Amino acid sequence: MRAAPRLHWSIMKQHKIAIMGFGTVGGGTYDILTQNRDYIKRTQGMDVVVARILDRSDAPLVARGIDKSLFCGDVDALAADPEIELAVETMGGVEPAKTFITKMLRAGKSVVTANKELLAKHMHELAPIAEQNGCGLYFEASCVGGVPIIRALNESVQGDKIVSLYGIINGTTNYILSKMTDEGCDYATALAEAQALGFAEADPTSDVEGFDAAYKLSILGSMAFRTCVPYGSILREGITKVTAGDIANARELGYTVKLVAVGKRDGNNIEARVHPAFVPNDHPLAAVSGAFNAVYLRGDFVGDLMFYGAGAGAHPTGSAIVSDIVKALSGAAGYGGFAGDSLEKGISLVGDFVSGYYICVTVADKTGVLSKISNILGDNGVSIKAAVQRSSASGTATVVFLTHRAHEHSVMQALGSIAKLASVERIDSMLRVL
Ligand code: HSE
Repeated sequence: MRAAPRLHWSIMKQHKIAIMGFGTVGGGTYDILTQNRDYIKRTQGMDVVVARILDRSDAPLVARGIDKSLFCGDVDALAADPEIELAVETMGGVEPAKTFITKMLRAGKSVVTANKELLAKHMHELAPIAEQNGCGLYFEASCVGGVPIIRALNESVQGDKIVSLYGIINGTTNYILSKMTDEGCDYATALAEAQALGFAEADPTSDVEGFDAAYKLSILGSMAFRTCVPYGSILREGITKVTAGDIANARELGYTVKLVAVGKRDGNNIEARVHPAFVPNDHPLAAVSGAFNAVYLRGDFVGDLMFYGAGAGAHPTGSAIVSDIVKALSGAAGYGGFAGDSLEKGISLVGDFVSGYYICVTVADKTGVLSKISNILGDNGVSIKAAVQRSSASGTATVVFLTHRAHEHSVMQALGSIAKLASVERIDSMLRVL
């Protein structure tokens, strides 16, 4: 049990911690710990001091005017330093972060990390090392930045079976899609602006191809469904093929296009997917714009919950890290790890899930084309909810279909047959409907 805050500063224990990786998030964490040091002392009863900063050089410390004596370039020396109680890992990527975290845990130092890729791929290896060495692994900052979603899943809805989790958990793609929606521009223009403003990386692959969201869904899904949702099993599609036409069609039909992460559990069946989708405008997630993130949970007893906030950035992510530092130094256990790196026996990941679909096709504007397409959809058990046709001067027509809920495999099969029709020029788009 956590001790009550102690108010006598003179006898308050000083906790010395290290930050490994002093980039944006490491720097944000340092800002909070130094600027709010007295506040944390007063309210949490602990004096947290950044005593070591590990990086390749002392340049990031110099750039921030931080005393160079805090610099440490040797991870083994850091692991051997008995004064350091805890290490924050804000390096990102799998290596050398995995090796460094392992060294800290083996030295009995708890670790607070923001590293979603590492956790999604190697949590099953790191959690037992933490346990064997009597320390904790804390990772609130790994998903959805400053939004306390890991804590909520771990500590607030333990009594509920989480039925579904829908999230907008990547700010870069949400910024790009919001820009396309608000300004009618195409993907390349929105990406270029996101890069110019620092919302997207120079190499945006991890964000725009859905990897980042899939790492987070693996972590959130595993926490929500209390079983490992392996990263490699998640259906993943990015936003690079979403067109200005798709966004305009969505608007016309009452939807907003978002990159969504979907997790569902029904008994022993789990769905886990990341893809762009038509989100109905009356769904709370449709209103989550710009670089903001949100997670919409449904528990079997609590009902619907929504968590919203900044999903990235030095200070929001630093805030989540500081909350974990306080938690760890208070003696509270780390978050539960994922048992194993694969689905438990008896649990299946459903590939043939059910969803609504938006399909956009360019066809020859001739008699009978629409009925051939409708027949193929019908033969595959896919029922049409709405259809809109727009003819062009060139003798082609664009046809947009919205379907009722149908099986993914049936829709894919139907699209394969539709593509083979002589009168079909191309299938422009297929997006799932939330
Ligand atoms: N690049 C991520 C995003 C933040 O755009 O949301 C870190 O996961």
